[in-house]
Amino acid sequence: MKLKIIILVGTMTGTAQLVAQELELIWDADDVAVETLLMDNLDASVFDREGVILVCTSTYGQGDVPDNAKKLLDDLRSTRPDLSAVRYGVFGLGDRTYAETFNFGGKRFDELLQELGAQRVGERIQHDASSGVLPEEKAEEWAGEWLAEVRERVVAAA
Ligand SMILES: Cc1cc2nc3c(=O)[nH]c(=O)nc-3n(C[C@H](O)[C@H](O)[C@H](O)COP(=O)(O)O)c2cc1C
Repeated sequence: MKLKIIILVGTMTGTAQLVAQELELIWDADDVAVETLLMDNLDASVFDREGVILVCTSTYGQGDVPDNAKKLLDDLRSTRPDLSAVRYGVFGLGDRTYAETFNFGGKRFDELLQELGAQRVGERIQHDASSGVLPEEKAEEWAGEWLAEVRERVVAAA
């Protein structure tokens, strides 16, 4: 069966969406079925879907998730579904200039998903907009490594 990856995009100005597009191009070519969904209007039921989830989100305000991700985060917090069957990764976008809240958007999702029983595959990625490395470049570097971990953890266990 074809491996399925669902990318959930939390973004204010579209950078996280560019990352998702880059990943989709890379993984589609590797015979993976990739579906990218903006978080707008999603609720916790998106985690019932078949496939590995990649949360791809930036950070705003005082370390908040972007506006389009708030509803999903709030719904997970209030309904607290059992996510023990869920395997996920996090590609966070942020800027180290915001030292106190660097990459808190991805961190908030990561902590909550773990609390709800989901298991993360690989490390949480923290892109730094002040680093000079484009987020799409970082994504390209990381894509193969994460896919290999997903195949090992998820496909081998199936
Ligand atoms: C008003 C504003 C507030 C931000 N706050 C944070 C923050 O608290 N922590 C952080 O790591 N990055 C912060 N950032 C940086 C963004 O997360 C970063 O630029 C990201 O690449 C934007 O991605 P997006 O276009 O997908 O929203 C902030 C950026 C802006 C413009």
